[in-house]
Amino acid sequence: MNAQIEFPKDFLWGTATAAHQVEGNNVNSDVWVLEHVPGSPYVEPSDDACDHYHRYREDIALLAELGFNMYRFSLEWARIEPEEGEFSRAVLEHYRDMLRACHEHGITPMVTFHHFTSPRWLIASGGWESRNTADKFARYCERTTEYLGDLIGAACTINEANIAPLITKLEFSPPPRQLHKEAWWSAAAKALGVSPRRFAPFLYATSPKAIDTILTAHRKGMEAIKAGAGDFQVGITLALLDIQAIEGGETLAAQMRHEINDVFLENLGGDDFVGVQTYSRTRFGPQGLLPAEEGVELTQMDYEFWPEALEATIRYAISKTGLPVIVTENGVSTTDDTRRVEYIRRALQGVTNCINDGLPVRGYTYWSAFDNFEWSLGYRPTFGLIAVNRETQERTVKPSARWLGAIARANAF
Ligand code: BGC
Repeated sequence: MNAQIEFPKDFLWGTATAAHQVEGNNVNSDVWVLEHVPGSPYVEPSDDACDHYHRYREDIALLAELGFNMYRFSLEWARIEPEEGEFSRAVLEHYRDMLRACHEHGITPMVTFHHFTSPRWLIASGGWESRNTADKFARYCERTTEYLGDLIGAACTINEANIAPLITKLEFSPPPRQLHKEAWWSAAAKALGVSPRRFAPFLYATSPKAIDTILTAHRKGMEAIKAGAGDFQVGITLALLDIQAIEGGETLAAQMRHEINDVFLENLGGDDFVGVQTYSRTRFGPQGLLPAEEGVELTQMDYEFWPEALEATIRYAISKTGLPVIVTENGVSTTDDTRRVEYIRRALQGVTNCINDGLPVRGYTYWSAFDNFEWSLGYRPTFGLIAVNRETQERTVKPSARWLGAIARANAF
């Protein structure tokens, strides 16, 4: 049995959600359209999700009661700016009340300005393949920070800025040039008022121009946030898999690390932290991507149960940026809650190894607070510390939530 490990004072112990995955009825967003077109690859629509848009006060109280001192949630651009240039005061007031609820419970609110979903009008005007999108994002950040900034505890501009190259290069999804041929893609483009070739939702924006637009949006968004109300740390988050090389796979693995991670990590000037989001590892041999290693347990996502990946990606992110790290997402989808405890225990061991080596790791955020809408996979994967009954919306705290909450409260494990 290990000795008790103390975490640095002010260490952030959080859980995370994203608006589209928990709020419900995010009807003005592009993903809502993607879910509903005929032939959609989404296995089911997001529907009421966890009705967090209405239940946030009870939900935040529950997270505080469990022992967490931070809550990371996203602001929904499609709600805040439902038509270009029209900002909804009522929606901003809604998010203001979420921030207030966090403060009332001693929770630091970390907000994400963009978590995969975009307003329909943005996609109609070229989406993430249009350079103007960076300025539009910055204007949304500016107006939102003006209204909310005094209550924000920390901010992420864009969630997983590198997700589109990651999912196409690692073959989780076909690249847009193949998607052009699919009927559902054309139907979604048509519904959003663009040609299939100009259809650029965030999750599919992979071209060099799109990557440049996303990085520019981050930089301009960050400037707008920092110039506004409040005084808090601002960063970006990245999906960082531990990309490993197996005999002869070194060149390919290095190329993948460069294209998926370094292009982003090496362009973060002026950020206060980098948000590391890690779930597993991936391996490359001389011929390319390797399947899961025989004998290694798989999660509900069909990738390896590999909590050690987190230590590797924290070290990688710090070596490339020199910035402090906040683990803004780490977690596992499983129906066996004892495996969740095991996963977090081993991931936290990695975090403490980094801290013991003097590396600046400022927080750990578990994905996710609730079982929620796992994008195209719907509600089957269960990442949550808290289960949600889809019929009644009743919340049930899992043992892993109490276990991690107790660590958070003690600031030691
Ligand atoms: C995303 C979340 C997602 C999680 C689990 C991350 O890529 O930020 O929205 O639910 O991973 O797959």
